[in-house]
Amino acid sequence: MKTLRLAVLGFGNAGRAYARLLLEKDQELRQQYGMAVQVTAIVTGRHGTWEEAAGIDLHRALADFTANSSRTGLEVARDADYDALVELTPLNIATGQPAIDHIRTALRRGKHVISANKGPIAWAYRELKALAEEQKVGFYHETTVMDGAPVFDLVERTLPLARVTEVSGILNTTTNYILEELAAGKDYDAILAEGRRLGFVEADPAMDVEGYDAAAKLTALLNVLMDADLTPDRVERQGIQNITAADIRDAAARGKVIKLLCRGWREGGVLHATVAPAQVDRGSLYATIDSTSSLVSITTDLMGKLSLVEHAPLIEQTGYGILVDTVRLLQRLTGICP
Ligand SMILES: NC(=O)c1ccc[n+]([C@@H]2O[C@H](COP(=O)([O-])OP(=O)(O)OC[C@H]3O[C@@H](n4cnc5c(N)ncnc54)[C@H](OP(=O)(O)O)[C@@H]3O)[C@@H](O)[C@H]2O)c1
Repeated sequence: MKTLRLAVLGFGNAGRAYARLLLEKDQELRQQYGMAVQVTAIVTGRHGTWEEAAGIDLHRALADFTANSSRTGLEVARDADYDALVELTPLNIATGQPAIDHIRTALRRGKHVISANKGPIAWAYRELKALAEEQKVGFYHETTVMDGAPVFDLVERTLPLARVTEVSGILNTTTNYILEELAAGKDYDAILAEGRRLGFVEADPAMDVEGYDAAAKLTALLNVLMDADLTPDRVERQGIQNITAADIRDAAARGKVIKLLCRGWREGGVLHATVAPAQVDRGSLYATIDSTSSLVSITTDLMGKLSLVEHAPLIEQTGYGILVDTVRLLQRLTGICP
């Protein structure tokens, strides 16, 4: 049986969820595509690298990760024997590195790439996409926005000939959570402390609260769906740090809810991209997007406006997004599209 050999960079929450799904769906993938998916390298940041040409036993990797090499992600991308690189290292919101270098290196070698890391899509999408096309390899990134929800596939696969004219949404769940707790009358510092305890808020919440994370996600959406060639630093960005409980009460008195809204559109050939708190009607779809849920609305010339909501995802939905990209690659390699 033919084999798809993967080099997986990053074996944290996303990598492990993906590995569990590869194990669970192994037989189905073989039956549907006549190919076996094998992981031949797993690279971590501080726990070393595990390489095995015959394929790593993922049960063992999940139970007891045993490094047998000290090669870095870049060295594996450059020198290891694999068919597709799976980029699951942490997001560097300020530069997209070292993930961009990992992906660039793999593409230059004619390897396919799957990335759940949005840094490269936000900082270097046009270059990486052109490189993938030049090398005639696949470059898949569905998980970078809203996990496995088919945001990019929706447009690429189901809306032929339609042109995206606007993208908007609520893309940051931490700010959802903070705004809701403020509305419930809680104190800002207490919300952050409780949010950290529950895992909703990072140790340093600035990236979320000041809108950087939302700007990176919006940039990724606009780069892919509107060929924007944007970088996150060019998004007009305002966070929720200055929103007070009084603002929320005032809005509520007028039937409004405050949400951190992302929006990108073209006007007179010029692309606009904004992240800012906005008052939305209490009865609107936007107002229903609470805590860990998120929303993307896509406006097109031929199909009007469509909205996709991801309701309270778990890490399994991240693993699923990476699995979907793996399936897309298998479809490309085998020509089988059931
Ligand atoms: N978690 C989600 O729900 C989710 C959803 C969508 C997209 N994503 C994206 O998926 C990626 C991974 O997220 P995660 O939640 O799995 O993160 P995570 O739990 O922090 O895991 C990160 C993994 O990357 C490894 N790593 C760190 N630096 C590395 C480097 N330079 N080279 C190779 N490996 C390195 C870490 O190894 P050590 O532990 O040894 O340092 C760890 O195994 C991120 O880009 C994230 O934005 C995550």
